[in-house]
Amino acid sequence: MYSERGEVILDPMVGAGTTLIEAKLLGRDAIGLDINPEAVELAKKALEFRHRPVSRQEVKVGDARDLSFLADDSIDLVLTHPPYMNIIRYSEGKIAGDLSNIGSLPRFCDEIEGVGREVYRVLRPNRHCAILMGDTRRGRHYVPLAFNVMLRFQNVGFILKEDIIKVQHNCSATERWRWKAKRDKFYLIMHEHLFVFRKPGRGEDLTRVRWSRSL
Ligand SMILES: C[S@@+](CC[C@H](N)C(=O)[O-])C[C@H]1O[C@@H](n2cnc3c(N)ncnc32)[C@H](O)[C@@H]1O
Repeated sequence: MYSERGEVILDPMVGAGTTLIEAKLLGRDAIGLDINPEAVELAKKALEFRHRPVSRQEVKVGDARDLSFLADDSIDLVLTHPPYMNIIRYSEGKIAGDLSNIGSLPRFCDEIEGVGREVYRVLRPNRHCAILMGDTRRGRHYVPLAFNVMLRFQNVGFILKEDIIKVQHNCSATERWRWKAKRDKFYLIMHEHLFVFRKPGRGEDLTRVRWSRSL
């Protein structure tokens, strides 16, 4: 819905390549970046299939906080799924710059704001950026990681358009959490947020969207 055939999609944290696979199936050109060369190899392999109409997908190693190889206002849609702090450490601490090594919420948010600033710059005005984020717990307390990330994306200028709840019943960590939930009396987290942001149009009157922006 947020892109047309022939347009260019960017996933700056592409992982095993889901975004680019879907882009190919829908006839969108796409660029994928990941800080982890192993993820880049997986994504490249996953894209080794034929599909018509033909479109172009490019995957390379890179840092989502530095998209200097892309011009301002050049991308039609950004779709991405960052790590949820260090809940899953994708490179097990081996790659500097891997955001999944960060265990501090303020530091993680500072770095994710750097990603937000870059994707805002490269996105065309009036186009969208969708970001999938989940929450976590520390001890007996809820850590609203997704809302913190949402606020950081608003900080760089994005307008919140949608908050779509993805119901997530089971994941690899569910069994680990089940006994803690029973012991400490809390409910398992069973959702993630798919935030869809819009970059304002050129010369747009922002007073009309003031409650959807950073206060
Ligand atoms: C949740 S996974 C992405 C999953 C992906 N949607 C898929 O289809 O597999 C997050 C990814 O972000 C990558 N990552 C972490 N820090 C990064 C950074 N600074 N720049 C680019 N990628 C980064 C990790 O290597 C990991 O592959």
